[in-house]
Amino acid sequence: MTGSQAGPPHDPAGSARAKLRPEHYDYFAGGAGEETALRENEDAFGRLALLPRVLRGGGDRDTRVSVLGRDWPAPLFVSPTAFHRLAHSDGEPATARAAAAAGVPLVTGMAATTAVADVVAAAREADPGAVVWFQLYLQPEPEVTAELVLRAERAGCSALVVTVDSPVFGRRTRDLRNGFHDLPPGLAAENMRDLPGVPPGATRDIAMWPAGWDDLARLRELTDLPLVLKGVLHPEDARVAVDRGVDALVVSNHGGRQLDAAPASVEALPAVAEAVAGRVPVLLDGGVRRGTDIALALTLGARAVGVGRPVLWALATGGEDGVRQALTALRDDFEQVLALCGGHRPQDLTADQVVPRGLPYP
Ligand code: FNR
Repeated sequence: MTGSQAGPPHDPAGSARAKLRPEHYDYFAGGAGEETALRENEDAFGRLALLPRVLRGGGDRDTRVSVLGRDWPAPLFVSPTAFHRLAHSDGEPATARAAAAAGVPLVTGMAATTAVADVVAAAREADPGAVVWFQLYLQPEPEVTAELVLRAERAGCSALVVTVDSPVFGRRTRDLRNGFHDLPPGLAAENMRDLPGVPPGATRDIAMWPAGWDDLARLRELTDLPLVLKGVLHPEDARVAVDRGVDALVVSNHGGRQLDAAPASVEALPAVAEAVAGRVPVLLDGGVRRGTDIALALTLGARAVGVGRPVLWALATGGEDGVRQALTALRDDFEQVLALCGGHRPQDLTADQVVPRGLPYP
């Protein structure tokens, strides 16, 4: 047994909870409604088993995957989460340096407590070739959306991740109970500063607003950056998105923070992957905690997977080093699982290698 497997079970959320103010921990940890979708994201992976293949021989192992014209070192990225400075005073720049150092692309959020230009600069300190994408909520005022897109382009982001699962804000039970709705003094959603219609120096709230396909078409005309739709669960939406020229999809229920009756992300994945039929990369986030979760998502059609809360917990407990270690450990864990499944490349994990747990089998 190696050192990392010795000792008590690893409980990143519990360690972070001990570090954070209770209402901030709840903001990160919580979900909508009865937190069914939140729980199911993790539990659904536990209902699946991997069927390893044997005697597949040796040769080099290579965990790289190609996404939108770039080779990613592993099928893993950091999903956008808000307010990293609530988790640790070093905030998003620490996350960005850590992700870049670990070889993991970062999706930085519109609701970041650090402006996108500073996040990309931090990532590039650690790795000049670091991949950073910008997550965007379409805003009701086209000029505000346009300014945000321009900032992401100027900063050097190489794709826009448009989150489409939030026509209204999810009802987050813990936040309502705790009365948590504002950042503490000194912290702000920095991308929302000095936007059109906002007094100089001030920030405005992010509007959760029911955008339509026409708004997406306008965004398509506004930028040459690849567009990634995040929060797609219905296969028909996936088909329409691809027909309309979207460059990639993220199957996601927003970490269980929007529609509480949504399926687990991994449960929604097969139908979306089937609808997309390989025309664009399908990504997934929600409940990914270990190498086997990554492998399971790949067998079901994902090109790569994102992690949200694991990064927040690592940031809260260990700052930049903590995030780098957590992401590196996840990459290493996936590589070991790939080997145990008899694979050499992520594409070697195929649909016949996933089965539901329980009898009758298969
Ligand atoms: C999020 N998520 C999110 N998504 C998004 O598109 N824009 C955002 O601003 C946020 N903010 C956010 C804050 C917090 C605290 C969490 C936990 C999540 C959703 C996120 O991108 C991702 O879909 C989930 O976090 C993935 O699930 P796991 O890995 O947290 O289980």
